Amino acid sequence: MNKKDTQYWQDISQKWLQSKDAERKELLNNKLEELKNLLRFHENRYYVQNNPLLADEEYDRLYGFLNKYELAHPDKITPDSPTQRVGVTVIKDFPKVLHLAPMLSLQNSYNSNDLIDWDRRVCELLGTEAVEYCVEPKFDGASISLIYSHNQLERGATRGDGVTGDDITVNIQRIKSLPLHIPLSSFGIDQVEIRGEVLMTKTAFYDYNQKLMEEGLPPLANPRNAAAGTLRMKDPSEITKRNLEAFVYHVSFIQQIPQQQVSNKLNTHAGVLEALWDMGFRSPVKEMKLFKGILEVVNYIQSFEKQRDNLPYEIDGMVIKVNSIAQQEHLGMTAHHPRWAIAYKFKARQATSKLLDVVYQVGRTGAVTPVAKIKPVQVGGVTISSISIHNADYIQEKDLMLGDTILIERSGDVIPQIVKSMPDLRDGSQKPIVYPTKCPVCHTPLFKPEDESVWRCINKNCPAQAVEGIIHFVSKDAMDIRGLGEANVRRLFDLNLLDDIPGIYQLNYKKILHLDGMGEKSVASLQDAVEESKTRPLYRLIYALGIRYVGEITAKTLANNVSHLMEFTSLDEAALMQMEDVGEKVAASIHSYFYNPNNRAMLNKLETLGVNMKNDRKVAPTGSFAGQTFLFTGTLTQFKRSEAELRVESLGGKILSGVSAKLNYLVVGENAGSKLEKAKRLSSIKILSEEDFLKLLPT
Ligand code: IVH
Repeated sequence: MNKKDTQYWQDISQKWLQSKDAERKELLNNKLEELKNLLRFHENRYYVQNNPLLADEEYDRLYGFLNKYELAHPDKITPDSPTQRVGVTVIKDFPKVLHLAPMLSLQNSYNSNDLIDWDRRVCELLGTEAVEYCVEPKFDGASISLIYSHNQLERGATRGDGVTGDDITVNIQRIKSLPLHIPLSSFGIDQVEIRGEVLMTKTAFYDYNQKLMEEGLPPLANPRNAAAGTLRMKDPSEITKRNLEAFVYHVSFIQQIPQQQVSNKLNTHAGVLEALWDMGFRSPVKEMKLFKGILEVVNYIQSFEKQRDNLPYEIDGMVIKVNSIAQQEHLGMTAHHPRWAIAYKFKARQATSKLLDVVYQVGRTGAVTPVAKIKPVQVGGVTISSISIHNADYIQEKDLMLGDTILIERSGDVIPQIVKSMPDLRDGSQKPIVYPTKCPVCHTPLFKPEDESVWRCINKNCPAQAVEGIIHFVSKDAMDIRGLGEANVRRLFDLNLLDDIPGIYQLNYKKILHLDGMGEKSVASLQDAVEESKTRPLYRLIYALGIRYVGEITAKTLANNVSHLMEFTSLDEAALMQMEDVGEKVAASIHSYFYNPNNRAMLNKLETLGVNMKNDRKVAPTGSFAGQTFLFTGTLTQFKRSEAELRVESLGGKILSGVSAKLNYLVVGENAGSKLEKAKRLSSIKILSEEDFLKLLPT
């Protein structure tokens, strides 16, 4: 397929996508074959080349045009129509395996009318007035098929083309929410094929990206890509590191034990979900809801969409399924999807845009970060016009050029990312992105250590680094100095009223009072905030210093190991590496920071100015929670979570970031989710209500 062809099909796609109803009617009557070829072209891009040119939603709309037309004109359906098959050929290198039942996909809907129409068809086919529906989340991950025989996990596979997938059993075995052994025989079953979705939770994804960025690597675009990519990794130990989870939601094949009855729990979809749960799977039993008619379903789905961002994992919609399995069997399937289920898709989080320009920002560690200026585009209700593109390697990896069409995504709270560029759409006007060789602020030549991908300004007096360092120091998670937000820091810096971090504690408030928009009240509260910040706990100061590779978690570890900050000036790398989670790279960075005479002088100055450098809690592990680990989940009603965590730490306990065998207590607030479910499966963890926790606290 050459570029001309690609451009041709892209133009045809736009023609169809932008067509008004009357115009599309014309097109369908006269150019049906064109639409079929267009869909074939995009299927090939998606499944074979793994390189789609359209957002999923756009493809679904095109597919919908054909499907709707064929429903109204069944005589026009040809056996080779894209609606008449399950999928297309896969490329990849894991062993190929046949699914026991084809892995069909779901029909999509985008509004309540689509659902009402679908319900009408279901009722007609079943000859009833109303149908019972089961509604559950549409998990946004990578779909898998699992075969269990004689109570054992036999095989795990990717969807592939729906008929043949990749055998990824070795990786599947590492996913802790998938049991390796299940009590199938007690349900009268010999063998089953189960379908589900592998996910990376938002926190696991955030932590993973955080780690990548701390190592100077670019983050991944979304948890779905992270999960799908991890599943296909050749090193199964990566799965363990990346904390994948899985939900299962469908049984596609059952072989019963001869002369035995299959449990009648399996007569409804809700019963199947319960049975899966009872077997030890994570199925959406808690997340699903039953309804007697479609209007209630519509209300529920619309209210659920508002909750989307509160879930611990990404969902891209809801799935509505006929609850009775007998009715499901009566309805059957088309070649492409079951007639008894439909997906309702939420607002898309991807969009296409154009890369217009690249500007370069200098961070507090001197790292020069390219930022793409893009044609403003709405994604999930937010207009995006700038996106970080991390470093030169990233630009090369994503094959970005000025003027390129790009696919962008903003999933949940994650900062927007470029998913990919579309080099096939280049028309010759695109220009390469030329990386600067000098700092855009102080013009010092940039430097890049051989083993890193980031170019840096190494001029310690670079004004950009100074101002970014101050902005980080005063930020919310660091010293939290309100009234000294980013804009104010830049302004004071430009006016020479603030030059460096110690300068925060030597501000000339009289001069500030005369600045536009600064009244007595705001200056007084700024002064209070600056004073208050002097008493922050040591870990916040350590984090605020902006030492490379020292995020909040490492800052806490460091603080817990000393009683005064300046002890770090006499610790060598070996001593630092004794501390939890401090590896070679982190130790080297901390050591070089405290070895630097300018930094030492700056810290001495801060102490003279009254900033707390002591850690009174170093000897804490003698408290009543010494040696115990805690985790809070759900909404607490009597404490703020941060307060509760502080109480635990002040009694010598430790807060963990996730449920694992190392956890002693999980304290459960309202609406607790996956952490609670996970903890229930580890018998060593004690699950406490908020009241139980209160009772443990000394009076
Ligand atoms: S049911 C035969 N239920 O969405 C019906 N699918 O866009 C099997 N998906 O291929 C599918 N959550 O990978 C079903 N609760 C859910 C789902 C779900 C996510 C995925 C699945 C499917 C895709 C269709």
